[in-house]
Amino acid sequence: MAWSKRTTAAVGYRRWVSWTRLPGAPAFTIQFDDQRLAAAPGQTVAAVLWAAGIRSWRTTRHTGAPRGLFCGIGVCFDCLVTIDGKPNRRACLVPARPGMVVTTQLGVGDAV
Ligand code: FES
Repeated sequence: MAWSKRTTAAVGYRRWVSWTRLPGAPAFTIQFDDQRLAAAPGQTVAAVLWAAGIRSWRTTRHTGAPRGLFCGIGVCFDCLVTIDGKPNRRACLVPARPGMVVTTQLGVGDAV
């Protein structure tokens, strides 16, 4: 097979899929505020929250406006959330893990 950008993109995509999906791995739950949410292996925290219908999980520091997913790729920092007591984690980048405790982040990092 000839070397081409198209070929390398396809190989990269297959690798990415294999890293984000764990065949045969069991589903699990994470805690979000007072809810338990179902999560699948390979999902980010943001994906778990969206799948549960939750669209905002942070408030802005000055006006308290709700924020959630915006860029989805780790650039905008709109999706900041507190995970296992650590504030300012980007929900769109952090993979969900069994038993993870996620809380709404208020302003610059106070949890609810
Ligand atoms: S949604 Fe933009 S950094 Fe997470």
